[in-house]
Amino acid sequence: MFKDQKVSYSGVQPSGNLTIGNYLGAIRNFSEYSEQYKTFYCVVDQHAITVRQVPAELRRRTYETLALYMACGLDPEKNTLYVQSMVHEHAELAWILNCFTMFGELSRMTQFKDKSAKHADNINAGLFTYPTLMAADILLYQTDVVPVGIDQKQHVELCRDIAERFNQLYPGTFTVPQPIIAKHGMKIMSLADPTKKMSKSDENPNAVVYILDDRDSIIRKFKRAVTDSGSEIRYDEEKPGVSNLMTVYSCFTGKTLEEIEREFAGCGYGDFKLAVGEVTADALAPVQNRFAELLADKAYLEAQMKKGAEEASWYARRTLAKVQKKLGFVQL
Ligand code: TYM
Repeated sequence: MFKDQKVSYSGVQPSGNLTIGNYLGAIRNFSEYSEQYKTFYCVVDQHAITVRQVPAELRRRTYETLALYMACGLDPEKNTLYVQSMVHEHAELAWILNCFTMFGELSRMTQFKDKSAKHADNINAGLFTYPTLMAADILLYQTDVVPVGIDQKQHVELCRDIAERFNQLYPGTFTVPQPIIAKHGMKIMSLADPTKKMSKSDENPNAVVYILDDRDSIIRKFKRAVTDSGSEIRYDEEKPGVSNLMTVYSCFTGKTLEEIEREFAGCGYGDFKLAVGEVTADALAPVQNRFAELLADKAYLEAQMKKGAEEASWYARRTLAKVQKKLGFVQL
């Protein structure tokens, strides 16, 4: 579809307030591809309804997520930024891919197992087939790379398997994508339980630092972060609390773990936690200011949504038509 240009594709659910995990593991890395790749970044509202949403909140968060993409540095002139439900080809290709995805494969997805344990009263078919919708998102744009946090790697690998299976039956249909996992920040952990991923749906607000948290809250949350026994600032997998804080500090300052160990040699956890809070608040302040400006201009956001959906549809239509033709659907 793009003869000389590679494609980067990713998405974020507008299902809660976005966290520094979403930022460091995913959104911040999206703009790395803006110059040389054709880039598509989607607000995946259709994925969000696999768990119950309050409609007004989903709507508000859809605007906010688009605004955050831009506030995090994604220029809508250089990246196609759009909302999933505005491009109907996603749902259509997802149905087709459902017919090329095995029950056993979907049953093995760890996110499905986790979410069905958490929402035991609503284990719906959408929750189960969620990865085929995600595969449709990616494959519609003949994607080469998918920048995501490590929790999404399994879904991208399933997408590769689906693409390869389809290509075997119908050669030359899809580009087979690669997941790109950030070296640092691929999994930011909860501040309350550093053995668990930091998640926007965590019920404990102190476990999570949101991109839009104010400075005082950010510093307070880091000060309260659970740390390990001992007091040394040293990266050690056996000490997930301090190691997680070091990862955050490293992501926001660009310093290596060795440099951080040297910088804080002889300091206690208290000093270090304060420093992590301060660099995080400093780094997020410009994002928050830009976000507030963008959100105040609803007409601008809507114009960008429209433009993004039109651009995305153009590419999505072409892949869907190719797939339908290969399958033998009559095309008039
Ligand atoms: P979602 O909305 O849960 O998360 C968005 C992105 O943020 C990353 N992430 C994290 N990275 C590091 N540390 C964390 N604590 C952390 N929490 C979240 C996720 O890995 C993800 O990259 N299914 C996807 C959305 C999606 C998608 C796609 C992604 C739908 N279609 C197509 C890529 C391509 C999801 O639920 O992400």
